[in-house]
Amino acid sequence: MHFTHCYNSLQAASEILIPVPELRDLRQAALQRLAAEVALPLARLEAEFDGDAQRELLLFGRDGHKYVLLGMGTDYQPHRLVRVLRHYVSRKRHTLGPVVAVELRHVPTADQMEWAGAAVYGIGLGIYRYELLKTTPQQAFPLEAPTACIELLCATNGEAVVDTATREWRLAQAMHRVFDLVHTPSNIKTPAWLAEQAAAAAQRAGFEVKVYETQALQQMGMHALLAVGQGSPHAPHLIVMEHRPAQATQKVGLVGKGITFDTGGISIKQAQNMHLMKSDMSGAAALIGIMEAAAILALPVHLIGVVPAAENAVDGKALKPGDVIHSYSGKTIEVIDTDAEGRLVLADALSWVVRQHRPDQLVDIATLTGSCIRALGTEAAGLWSTNDALAEALIEAGNHTGERLWRMPLWDDYFEYLKTDVADIKNLGSKPMAGAITAAKFLEYFTEDHPAWAHLDIAGMALKQDDFGHDRMATGFGVRLLLHWLRQHVV
Ligand code: BES
Ligand code: MN
Ligand code: ZN
Repeated sequence: MHFTHCYNSLQAASEILIPVPELRDLRQAALQRLAAEVALPLARLEAEFDGDAQRELLLFGRDGHKYVLLGMGTDYQPHRLVRVLRHYVSRKRHTLGPVVAVELRHVPTADQMEWAGAAVYGIGLGIYRYELLKTTPQQAFPLEAPTACIELLCATNGEAVVDTATREWRLAQAMHRVFDLVHTPSNIKTPAWLAEQAAAAAQRAGFEVKVYETQALQQMGMHALLAVGQGSPHAPHLIVMEHRPAQATQKVGLVGKGITFDTGGISIKQAQNMHLMKSDMSGAAALIGIMEAAAILALPVHLIGVVPAAENAVDGKALKPGDVIHSYSGKTIEVIDTDAEGRLVLADALSWVVRQHRPDQLVDIATLTGSCIRALGTEAAGLWSTNDALAEALIEAGNHTGERLWRMPLWDDYFEYLKTDVADIKNLGSKPMAGAITAAKFLEYFTEDHPAWAHLDIAGMALKQDDFGHDRMATGFGVRLLLHWLRQHVV
């Protein structure tokens, strides 16, 4: 993919995409230049196109150019442009290109760089497809041709725009691989396979990876992770990724749930939608994407990404309800429900990373509870944190990237639900309510009182039914969010 920057002239673009907001001033600015080119009075054009979200209008200019107006609604932010272009491109990608222009000259000059990046990222996501298991060769889209080009029409520094575009295109490619990880079926996606993928990402992008297998895990005392995986022929793995730039002053620990398939175990799930549980490693996939992006962006922060990977299987050797297991922290856990496995593997990973690496800030990301989906639906992920500044920074990052977070409480009253007579803690609350909160309280118990820990429950966000797939597709939720947080609030 090539990128060019133009200010006054259009080059060979087959289509010029113009994001148009509903907001009056910006709408006029977007339409003004176009009105002259298509020889229509501005008022006529404005009457025809209000910039309403999801609206599209196709016009041919006197110069033969094809203009596509894309309604942005009132939410005029770069993450909105990502969405709008991703949708447009995913629907038109068989015919669109190979040279596409995006008009951004109506955007305030100071913001144009970010908008140009968002445009490229959105187009990059729009050409995504999962094709690794199709036996008929897929025809390449014109935008995938070696000569393909995105022309960015903006007034800011040309060279910097091209640099930004190149970087955002690479980030979109990294996101394709995050999607692939989630879409890969679990007969292929074992914990060992996930570890190989992390190693491949590390090779590509340039970060370090260390993988711990059964024997090492036993020596380390990762009893909870081992217990969750004990019913599966595919042994658990602990994947530790590290991005360690010389100039870093902050150390951030990230933990991502890596259940490669969640049957529920002996507390087996019902069959409907169980196939979607191949996505129970979406936190891990996001983490691998973040590590790769951190390397691409040369983020000056020391990152330690920990993925406890296991398959939660049904088997004679599997964990049973009522079993009491040990954990890395030394605390014992009564397993009331084997389907509450995520918190078990996260418990070991959290206390391990705190003890071994002493991160300044600690964030985990997990498809943890159906309860969180019932509370927030598919519009926001749940956020729990012991630290107000961290929580606020994450919320800001969520609003900026469109990967929204909603904070929930960690009051100790909820910890009462996890008390048991036979172990230090149990993995399921005694009341059939506040399930996402008690899960968070369970995790908190294993963070060794870390002063800056946050937990993101992305169960409702990892997959989404969109018009670019037949079934629910991976969203990569958390990658943009945490990258923005790292860049704006940590370094
Ligand atoms: N992976 C699931 C949570 C989940 C559910 C993610 C639906 C995405 C969509 C998790 O391991 C789980 O099974 N949670 C149980 C916990 C319960 C047994 C306490 C749940 O939410 O039902
Ligand atoms: Mn489960
Ligand atoms: Zn799970």
